[in-house]
Formats: sequence, C-alpha cells, structure tokens
Amino acid sequence: MSSNQPIGIFDSGVGGTSIWKEIHELLPYEKTIYLADSKNAPYGTKPVEEIINLSRKNTEKLLAMGAKIIIVACNTATTNAIKVLRSNYNVPFIGIEPAIKPAALHSKTKAIGILATQGTLSSELFHKASEIYSKDIQIIEVEGNGLVELIESGKKDSAQTKSLLLKLLRPMLEQSIDYLVLGCSHYPYLIPILKEILSEEVQLIDSGEAVARQTKVILSQNNLLSAETGEKPIHEFYSNTDQAVLASLINAEENHYKVSQLDF
Ligand code: DGL
Repeated sequence: MSSNQPIGIFDSGVGGTSIWKEIHELLPYEKTIYLADSKNAPYGTKPVEEIINLSRKNTEKLLAMGAKIIIVACNTATTNAIKVLRSNYNVPFIGIEPAIKPAALHSKTKAIGILATQGTLSSELFHKASEIYSKDIQIIEVEGNGLVELIESGKKDSAQTKSLLLKLLRPMLEQSIDYLVLGCSHYPYLIPILKEILSEEVQLIDSGEAVARQTKVILSQNNLLSAETGEKPIHEFYSNTDQAVLASLINAEENHYKVSQLDF
C-alpha cells in the first residue's frame, strides 16, 4: 500500500458526498474515488445479508481501483456490514454511525431525535450505542422512509420532501428535543428544509467531520497520508445510474473532478 494511492469512498448513492466534502476539506492533498451505488439505493429497507453483499461488492471495486483505505460513507452499510468487511479485507476501514453520544451528552431538555434508515435503527451496533444513553435521555427514533429516494431523484429541496419531513418529524416536534441526529449520510442535504421546520433551539448534528478526523488519524498511523505536493489531486466520482444528481452535489465543473457512469 502506498501513500499516493487514492482514498476509496462508497455509499448506497449520492449521500456520501456529504462525507466526501468533509474529507476533502480536511485532507486537500488526497486523491479520492467515490462510488455511488444508486442503482441499489435505498439500502435501508434491504435484508442484512443483502447490505453485506452490496458492501463487499463496492469494497472489492474500490480495492481493484487501488484504494489505500475505504470509507463506508453510509450509516446503514456501516452498522450492518463493517464487521464483515474488516474481517475479510486487509485494508483500513472507516465507518459512519449516528452521532448519539455528543447529542445525548449536550442535551439540556434530555430529549433527542434520531432520523435514520430502518436498517440503521434495527442494527445491533445502533442498539448497543443507544442503550448506553437511553437510561438518562429520551431518544425518539424515526425511520426516514422515502427520503433517500427523493434525494437520489434530485428532489432534496422540493415541496414533496418538506411535506414528508413534516409528517415524519411529527413525533419529535411534539416533544421538546434540542438535538436532531442526522443518522444517514444523505440527510445533511436536507438541512435547509429542516431549518425551516424545526425551531432555532434544535441543533442538527451529523458525523461527517468526525469521520474526516478519524480518516486523518488512521492514514497517519499507517503512514499513508499523501505528500503535500501543491498540485490539485484528481477526484473520480462514479455512479451506476445516470450521474446528473451526483454531479449536481459537487462542483462538477472543477477540471480535476471527473464524474462518470460505471457499471459495478
Ligand atoms: N446514505 C445511506 C446511509 O447513510 C442511505 C441508506 C439507504 O440507502 O437507505 O444510511
């Protein structure tokens, strides 16, 4: 493994670009390859076995493309598959999980909301984490059914998305939550609408920055941090469906960004 190989990132679709942005900001000299498995989105309603198989497929593709580390930029894939990935592939993995801990520790109202997929909320990993905090805190869990599909189809800012969110968040709006944990890497793209719906007192929290920091630590521990050359590194983005929505979420016009369609 060498430090000038790219960082590999995958998600069930375009949402993990929210994590890619944090990684790119913290580690601007790193080359990246991003796989959007939009053809198989959403993962959140699929059986665990299938989530594991899809995660293995994405990992193998990234390894074949020369990734030195794999970022599982999907809460659903992390909470259901990262254990299997770590025991099957000899490469460092960074996962993403809902940021319950900071929300629970800072909550003054002692009530927090978690918006995540069915697959994440039903996973063993999530249960273990939420059990630790649910003794002192009321945790209101809501499955974001339908949200990933809307974001994947380029409708993140639509009236349809707003009305679905209003319906989904009702149980939280009826309680005095002061933190809303965005437990899916697609959901940071809903922040503008969430701010319209929620009161100013509700803090929105996601795990993107923490994932970027952890990526830096692990690359450094493995002597895999790329040298600061001063040149702009290449960023490759691949979608296995039409790439228009993926391109719309990044600055696709930058000439060192390449967005293409790929069968994987
Ligand atoms: N971005 C994925 C996550 O973080 C979405 C999962 C899905 O495709 O349902 O969970």
